Order: sequence, then C-alpha cells, then structure tokens
Amino acid sequence: MRRRTLLRGSTALIAVPAWVRHAGAADVPRFALGIASGQPRADGVVLWTMLTGAGLPERVDVKWEVALDADFKQIAAAGVEVAEAAWSHSVHAEPAGLAPARWYWYRFSALGQVSIAGRTRTAPAPDAAAAAFDFVITSCQRYDVGHYAAWKHVAAESLDAVMFVGDYIYEYPSNARSVRPVEGSGVVRTLAQYRARYATHKSDPALQAAHAAAPWLLVWDDHEVGNDYANLQGQDLEADFKAQRAAAYRAYWEHMPFPKSARPVDADMRITGRLDWGRLARLHLIDDRQYRDVQVCPKPGHGGSNTVPLKDCTAMLDPHRTLLGAEQEQWLADGWDTTRPWNLLVQQTLMARFSWSDPANGAGTYWTDGWDGYPLARKRLLERVAQRKVPGVVVLGGDVHSNYVADLKVDYDDPAAPVIATEFCGTSITSLSLPQSRITAVLPFNPHIRYGRSDQRGYMRLKLTPQELRAQIRVIDNALDPASGIATAVQFVVDAQRPGAHAA
Ligand SMILES: [Fe+2]
Repeated sequence: MRRRTLLRGSTALIAVPAWVRHAGAADVPRFALGIASGQPRADGVVLWTMLTGAGLPERVDVKWEVALDADFKQIAAAGVEVAEAAWSHSVHAEPAGLAPARWYWYRFSALGQVSIAGRTRTAPAPDAAAAAFDFVITSCQRYDVGHYAAWKHVAAESLDAVMFVGDYIYEYPSNARSVRPVEGSGVVRTLAQYRARYATHKSDPALQAAHAAAPWLLVWDDHEVGNDYANLQGQDLEADFKAQRAAAYRAYWEHMPFPKSARPVDADMRITGRLDWGRLARLHLIDDRQYRDVQVCPKPGHGGSNTVPLKDCTAMLDPHRTLLGAEQEQWLADGWDTTRPWNLLVQQTLMARFSWSDPANGAGTYWTDGWDGYPLARKRLLERVAQRKVPGVVVLGGDVHSNYVADLKVDYDDPAAPVIATEFCGTSITSLSLPQSRITAVLPFNPHIRYGRSDQRGYMRLKLTPQELRAQIRVIDNALDPASGIATAVQFVVDAQRPGAHAA
C-alpha cells in the first residue's frame, strides 16, 4: 500500500503524511479551507472544496482531477463543476466509473491556482471479499475550548475512512474558558453566521489534513443547528426556528462532502443512507435530529433536554414516540443485512441505557435528549435485530463527550437478558465533559456499560475483519496543546459470532 510506504519513512508518528505536507491550504488563497472527500462507493466518491477570498465572480468553473498517483501523471477522471456564489462557491464533484477498492489522489484548480492534493478511496464492490475495514469514530470538535491535536493523529493513521458523528461546529460564542476565540459575540442563528463558523473550524490545518487523508462518512447532531433541537423545535422555542434550521442545513451542505442530490430544499436535507463495504459490512447512517418527536418533560418554558426520574415522567414510555421518525425507523428495520458478518449503525448518541440513579423498580433517572428519552423506540430497534438475528450489529456514536463501550440489550432490567449488539460511543475531539467522578459514581447502576470515561479526548479506532472487530481507544495527552501526543488507553475485541466487547 502506497501510503504505508510513505509513512514508514517519516520519523515522527504525528507527522502529516508527505503527500499533504508539501503545501498547506493556507498557501493557496482561493482554496484556503482545504479539500475533502466523502461517501465512498464502489465506483465513486464525492470530492469537495470551496473557493475563498475577495472578488469572486458569481459563477466560477472549477476543474477537478482524480489520479492514480500522487504526481497526477495518470489521470483516472476529470471534470468541471460550476461554483456558485449562492452556495458559497462550494464544489461537490462526483467522479463515476472509478475502480472499486483502490486509492486515488484528487485536487482542484480555478482562477490560476491549484488546491492541495488529497487522498481518497473507493469501497470494495458489494459482492467482493473485503479483508478489513479500518476507520475512526470522531465527534464534537468545539473550536474555542481546545486544539485539534487529535486530528493531526487521525491524519497520520492509515485508515479506510473517517466517521464523524456530529457537532462539527458549535453555535455558541466564545467565553472565559476559550483557548482560541470564535468570531462573533452571540449565538449563531443566520446563514452568514453559520458560514463564518464553518470557515473558522475549517481554517485549522490539522482538521484539513484529516479531511485530505481519507474519505469521510458524516452524520450531524444538534450543534450544527442549535443545542438540543428536535425536528422543528429549538430549545428556546424560537419563533423562527424553521428558517434557522434551513440556514444551518444549507451551510452544512455547502461545507461538507455530500453529493448534489443531498442539497437541502428549504429546511430539509436527507443525510440518511447506506453503504456496503464489500461482503464484510453494511453501514447504516441515520439522522436522529430532523424527524424526532420533541423531548418529553422539559424544563418549564423551554424545549430541549432534561434529566428526570422516570417515575415523574411516564410520558417517556409512550410507545408512539420516535427518535428517528416513523419512515426512517421502518427504513432501518427493513434494511438490516443478514448476509454480511457486520452491520454498523452510524448515529449520533449513546444508545445503551444510562441511569443516573439506581434503576431498580423503575426508579431510574434519565437524560431525555438521547435514546434514554425514547426507550420504546430503542426497544423496537433492538427487538427487530434480535428477531431477525441480524449478525454483528455495532452501534457507533458520539455526542456525550465520553468514551463508552457497552452491551446493548432489549431489557436492561433483566441481568440475564441476552446481549443483542455492541456499542462504541466515542469521545470528543475537544468538547468538554463532566468530571470523571460523576461517571464513576453511577457506573454501578449501569453494569452493561463496560467502559465509561468522561476525562478523555480523542477518538476510537476500529478495525473489522470477517472474524472480529478490534477497537483502540486513542486518547490525546492534552487537548489544550496543538502538538499533544497520543496513546492507546485500552483495547477491546468483539467476536463476529457473539455480540459484546471484551478487553483485549
Ligand atoms: Fe457535542
């Protein structure tokens, strides 16, 4: 593999790979926010960039090239996309007819300038054997509370894909704890403000290097729009929330490697989708924000989340409530794959029950924004998995700024209930969390959670083979240090034949 050869020669493990090191995006003013690729298929991938700088015409032709080599001597595909001012001069190129299961290099040119080059790959053909799938789970990269050392390490890993499961931006202004300020003194609500916030995040060279290193698979969470929003309701019950969601979705699409077919219409954008990684795995990417029922038992006068005893909030047990929306819930239930050894559910938040008090006799206390606020929807999902005997279900998530490894069950009150699926919920790149003492105190109420650490920043690295899943919890030393080192805190293994993670 070419990339491994290149990396073997580098002296420092955290070095950005040679093929992106020769020029930073900041050196190319028309492509200052870098490049990205996403949604790898067997025959194509989405290539993204955005023109930047003053004085851009309304419409600009942007050439894209896909090559078999880092020097762009053997061009595999090329074309021109029109970057329009109305869509922030973003480019979403979709080369087709690429070969399955191989690496490519790509770059853009316009207005006399050439972007940095990135590396991406296609998925194996759906009916082809695949020896492995190697990826990371990342989320929650609040810009002003830390530096992106984690991204520098992601860029240096040898990966097939980067999964980002939400909170690419945060809508908050900087505060006294900020280590590097974001623009603006208020909460982000308008299209111009969302665009500026993406530009701030994407100016970071470590994040740019991670985008240039491998294709990404993305789902959003709440902060791409606003904290704890549900469907068309913001947590402050804003009168104009639909317009805010439309602006937020538009800016999200403009800045991410999604295809043109996903371009939002008004306040709607579909991010739900599937990808088969050869005969090894089926990935299901879902959206728990856009279609959900609003959270029950909120604080008086507010929308959004609350942490409440179940005994005071029996509305939580309403069987009609849904986190995914009826249509998406059915889409997922119908699409589980019983022929491949692995089914990866790429979603936003912790699925395992997490009670903040002793849950005996229905006395649990739950956070209403996550799956715990929709317990019968979770039960339906896992019952379906159990009934159909879906093999190798692994739920991947983020949102809670903590590393959790958990057994998923239909019934958490029965200690003898079988384990149906395995969960890896990865911690934040930078975003802050609760003190570890709070988590340690309640882990005994949640024995199906095998690992729970709120005091770690970084990502999870997972490698699937037909026989097993191997997970490394990768933890940076200090999120306040852009040059921070990294270490593997612990490793887990899941046997393809038997759900549940075990320390390796
Ligand atoms: Fe977050």
